[in-house]
Amino acid sequence: MSNIGKEFLEKTKYEYRGKSDQEKGVERPPLELEYDRTRPVIDLPSPAGFIPPDNRLRQLIDQRRSIRQYSDDPLSLEELSYLLWCTQGVQGMKDTEATATFRTVPSAGARHAFETLLLVNNVDGLEPGLYRFLALDHKLTKLDSAPDLADQLVDAAFNQRMIKNASVTFFWVAVTKRMTWRYDVRGYRFLFLDAGHVGQNLYLAAESIGAGTCAIAAYDDNRTNRILGLDGEEQFVIYLSPVGKK
Ligand SMILES: Cc1cc2nc3c(=O)[nH]c(=O)nc-3n(C[C@H](O)[C@H](O)[C@H](O)COP(=O)(O)O)c2cc1C
Repeated sequence: MSNIGKEFLEKTKYEYRGKSDQEKGVERPPLELEYDRTRPVIDLPSPAGFIPPDNRLRQLIDQRRSIRQYSDDPLSLEELSYLLWCTQGVQGMKDTEATATFRTVPSAGARHAFETLLLVNNVDGLEPGLYRFLALDHKLTKLDSAPDLADQLVDAAFNQRMIKNASVTFFWVAVTKRMTWRYDVRGYRFLFLDAGHVGQNLYLAAESIGAGTCAIAAYDDNRTNRILGLDGEEQFVIYLSPVGKK
């Protein structure tokens, strides 16, 4: 078989599924990656009381388009908090042992294998830089503030300048073990399926606050992963989306 796409489909069919780590009794990976707890953690406004200006789902679905140009108006921290909640917000635990989370998006087996990194360019109350969303606590932690980070990430995405012109760009990172622990190689399919749900929620949520987004899958994997400090195998960027006011 010479076509890697077809080979991927073939070899991830159920009949090829090996014994998963879960079936082998390997310990479940944690629900979230560790982070440097000596760094300050930034509280986000609670999304519970945030009602978007436009709350009409039918209308939002109809209105949605990929938006690649944004105004200079910043996003507020409330709006960013709401977008994070819509894309990866944790609503509760599956059981008292906290073995899995339920979130605002579906995920195969409730594995929820993504971490969200944010390139913040223009959000009220946040210094520009790279942040990580701590979904379990609904907080942010800052990872990097190198001034040329946005330019590097634009460059790695074949000069798609919207990554820098947006108020914030979401980078979803797949933590493969969290999915393959249960599903073995077939889990790779589920990572890509899960990313679609997250991306679409961002489209609709952005629309509901007078903002726009554009899914991006055209980027140099190795360079983007390297810039973000990811090994590209255990953790890799699966999808990205800049968001800005229209
Ligand atoms: C998986 C995926 C990858 C995409 N990658 C890019 C991209 O790298 N750059 C870009 O400008 N648009 C990208 N888009 C946006 C599409 O071009 C857009 O959805 C399409 O033209 C239809 O327009 P609409 O979203 O306004 O309906 C992507 C969309 C999807 C779903």
